[in-house]
Amino acid sequence: MFKLKVSFLKMRGIQSVLVVSFVFVLLFPIGKAETEDVVEALVDFMEKLGPGSIQNTPNWGWNVSSDPCTDHWYGVKCDSTNQTVQKIVLEQISLSGTVDFESVCKETSLLLLSLKYNNLTGSLPQEISNCKRLRLLYLNGNHFSGDLPGSLTGLTDLVRIDISNNQLTGELPDMSRNLGLKTFLAQNNHFTGELPNFNYHQLEFFDVSNNDLTGRVPDDTGRFGAKSFAGNPRLCGKELPNACVSKKKDSHGFLMYSGLAILGLIVLVLIGLVILKKRQNLEDANIGTMKKGDKSIKDNGGSSESKVGQSRSEFSITSAENGVVSGSLVLLSPVEAVNGLRFEDLLRAPAELIGRGKHGSLYKVLPNDGIPLVVKRIKDWEISKDEFKKRMQRIDQVKHPKVLPIVAYYCSKQEKLLVYEFQQNGSLFRLLHGSQNGQTFDWGSRLNIACNTAEALAFMHTELKDDKIAHGNLKSSNILLTKDMDSCISEYGLMVVDDGSHNSNAFSVDVYAFGVVLLELLTGKPVQSSGLDLAKWVTSVVKEEWTGEVFDKALVVEGASEERMVGLLKIALKCINGSPDLRPGMDQVATMIVSLKEEDERSLASSDP
Ligand SMILES: *[C@@H]1O[C@H](CO)[C@@H](O)[C@H](O)[C@H]1NC(C)=O
Ligand SMILES: *[C@@H]1O[C@H](CO)[C@@H](O)[C@H](O)[C@H]1NC(C)=O
Ligand SMILES: *[C@@H]1O[C@H](CO)[C@@H](O)[C@H](O)[C@H]1NC(C)=O
Repeated sequence: MFKLKVSFLKMRGIQSVLVVSFVFVLLFPIGKAETEDVVEALVDFMEKLGPGSIQNTPNWGWNVSSDPCTDHWYGVKCDSTNQTVQKIVLEQISLSGTVDFESVCKETSLLLLSLKYNNLTGSLPQEISNCKRLRLLYLNGNHFSGDLPGSLTGLTDLVRIDISNNQLTGELPDMSRNLGLKTFLAQNNHFTGELPNFNYHQLEFFDVSNNDLTGRVPDDTGRFGAKSFAGNPRLCGKELPNACVSKKKDSHGFLMYSGLAILGLIVLVLIGLVILKKRQNLEDANIGTMKKGDKSIKDNGGSSESKVGQSRSEFSITSAENGVVSGSLVLLSPVEAVNGLRFEDLLRAPAELIGRGKHGSLYKVLPNDGIPLVVKRIKDWEISKDEFKKRMQRIDQVKHPKVLPIVAYYCSKQEKLLVYEFQQNGSLFRLLHGSQNGQTFDWGSRLNIACNTAEALAFMHTELKDDKIAHGNLKSSNILLTKDMDSCISEYGLMVVDDGSHNSNAFSVDVYAFGVVLLELLTGKPVQSSGLDLAKWVTSVVKEEWTGEVFDKALVVEGASEERMVGLLKIALKCINGSPDLRPGMDQVATMIVSLKEEDERSLASSDP
């Protein structure tokens, strides 16, 4: 449709062409008229934005004698099949006028309008709802004022709206009808009144902090902490400085509540009695086993969730063959603590369960006067003794400083144990998602860990390609931190991909897993917590040009280079490609990250005074 108009203008005067065009115009008379309208409306919209000197940008467009799509107007993206405008992105270019929503919304196919970080003024009019299909609206970081139009709730396709950092007033609209809403950011404005309803369970980002809202925070907001509501002195709620004053109860209510309280008390006492009884039984049982000279609690494994550091009680690793202990450890690395240590000693030494997963348990073991060790106990690994031995020795031959060496192993039919030196600074998982105690985990350190891990993994992949031994279970809890806060990969090659036919794929499974680790480093979000599929979530957000929101707030606050964060994000997205064959090899990934790191270091050096 647009093409037609252009050719019509260019060829004006050439009669034969004119006739052909005329025929086309006759064939599509309505489409053309509407299009001209829209182009004029868009030009009007731009004129009121006060584009200033930015207009002199080459290929700026935004004039009636060109086409927004085929002439690639600045900031305009179109649907590639039918050439209609879908996105208008005019961010951070010092626009200083007002937004003519009536005009821009003549383009009814608009899905994304982003005008963030400009100097725009005026209010948001009712006509905003003419952009019927709008999914993403970013108006943050301007000087918009006045009340929000009620018609905003009519944008039923809306997924993300960011109106933060403006001077907006009045009440927030009730967005509970906008069923697909995932982002609502309205912080740093002058909104008043009570908080309306939102579909809090659906929301991913929500912030109304620093306004002048009143009343109580709705009860089901557990997903968003106090930070999302802070800075509203007259707002009250569980996690806010203002607790809500509970409403007066009538005497009937009081009686009912006190009745419930008494009932609760009785139940509590009963539960307490049962626990006490159980504990007594357990102690009896323990005394029984201790008499036999073995203080042990059976590890019943089986839970699929890996829980770290939950159980603090001291006990020892009990052999599945209870008592029928035989054989000795095969030593791989010369570590003093292990020298002379027999399998039996290992089993008897005080141990602490520090992790339990689908495939086995992890214990911290303190042998007599020795340095602390970690014992990985693997269940149900269908591998012959010889094969296991060969595998462990092969892994041991390939040494990389950033891969934790296996110190010793033990193998029987039912039981496989691997011994590592204990790393006192925990794992990357704990560093990212544990209680940080005011610790900061800055961009430089994260990039360093990404780089070290990629290089180590690439090295292992190359060396062990022919043996088809991949890591098999890479995750942030398997990336450990040494006493110098260096990172190293643990548990390499302990997992054989179940289905033999997929074995050649095991390396690309590692690449995917590494991509997810990168996402964790960038977002600070754990994988699969509260049903959040990190890879899926990041991919969807990136599609919506919402990359800024992906990154860990701590990194943004720190002022890490967005360019490099986006660079690392792009590498991560390559790694998590849905088709294994399209993922890069680990060596390619390492090369990309190394050059990203070098770029980062160069920029640091040049910005130093
Ligand atoms: C209109 O925009 C197009 C595309 O940027 C440009 O080539 C053309 O010179 C512009 N025309 C006018 C009259 O400014
Ligand atoms: C253009 O195509 C997109 C899908 O590719 C569709 O959603 C939209 O309605 C189309 N627009 C017009 C005007 O046909
Ligand atoms: C924004 O507009 C105000 C007046 O409305 C002006 O004083 C200020 O300099 C402008 N800022 C920028 C960055 O253009």
